[in-house]
Amino acid sequence: MEKGPLEVTGESEIEVCTCMQSRHWPFCDATHHTLGGDGPRLVELDKDKTYHICRCFKTKNSPFCDGSHKN
Ligand code: FES
Repeated sequence: MEKGPLEVTGESEIEVCTCMQSRHWPFCDATHHTLGGDGPRLVELDKDKTYHICRCFKTKNSPFCDGSHKN
């Protein structure tokens, strides 16, 4: 999934970057504290499930991949 979504398993929540400045995209790395912008979006997950997090910005189901990167 190098160019597709990021697979996440075993997490009960993630902080998704909304300021577009994180070096650990799609996750917040606190860069918004120094460079400005809104803080992260907290997303609750079921830690017994596997999720695919969008990295291409094309999804219509943010932050989850909907397969739009294939188009
Ligand atoms: S670094 Fe982007 S929201 Fe925190």
